[in-house]
Amino acid sequence: MILIDGKQISASLKESIREQVALLPEKYGRVPHLVVVRVGEDPASVVYVRNKAKACEACGIRNTTIVLPEETAEEALLEKICALNADDSVDGILVQLPLPGHISEAKVIETIAREKDVDGFHPLNVAGLWQKTPHMAPCTPSGIMKLLEAIGIDPKGKRAVVIGRSNIVGLPVAKMLLDANATVTTCHTRTVDMPSVTREADILVVAAGRPKMVTADMVKEGAVVIDVGMDRDPETGKLCGDVDFDAVAPKTMAITPVPGGVGPMTIACLMENTLKCFLELHRQ
Ligand code: GUN
Repeated sequence: MILIDGKQISASLKESIREQVALLPEKYGRVPHLVVVRVGEDPASVVYVRNKAKACEACGIRNTTIVLPEETAEEALLEKICALNADDSVDGILVQLPLPGHISEAKVIETIAREKDVDGFHPLNVAGLWQKTPHMAPCTPSGIMKLLEAIGIDPKGKRAVVIGRSNIVGLPVAKMLLDANATVTTCHTRTVDMPSVTREADILVVAAGRPKMVTADMVKEGAVVIDVGMDRDPETGKLCGDVDFDAVAPKTMAITPVPGGVGPMTIACLMENTLKCFLELHRQ
């Protein structure tokens, strides 16, 4: 059984980005600049945003973190985004989700200029993924595809099952696996007899948001299991994934730990997207 080391794989990706970034000032006069906006004090968002700033530092990317109070009006946030869109010193804009209930996430996502949309959430970037035209790809799905590549798994001809159908992970990763020539099935809360479906999977991607929902009986011997969950174990209060790791891991060919699997890859892909935005904005 291979424990897929997302920390190490993301570290080498960040190192490669750092090397590319180091060459940019001579050619373009500055390094890429990522602006991360956090609204309110959601504890998970505080940690994520801090980790994004740390990754920027590791890659030599300039980072500005803007923290706005919970009660910020939607209109004020949209105006801030418009100002960042117009600011030539800014290459990438990320507004951390979830947002307070009075702010429309859809409006925020649409307002970020697609050229600066490092998350790949803008409708035009989503359309680009589904139509196979140039686009910014969402970070977690890209990170998952890179993990598979790093351990030498080609999805071609394999059966992939994705649990979850969110815009951020489930839907786009299913599309990427399909484009990599896997046969893809998506499961969700209304799926009848989910274990009969997941047991068919050569590659099982779990983005359900429910602690330890995938049990040993749901996994085929020799499968590759990618756990996107970031949950708290209701019994111990410790960080855990959507997969019951201790029970499932011995059956797998390879599995991601939580933490240290998909999470670090998401952030490394964010760095890659920031560099991509910079290069595209500087293309004549
Ligand atoms: N909240 C949880 N994951 C993400 C992400 O990838 N991007 C943003 N903007 N917010 C998130």
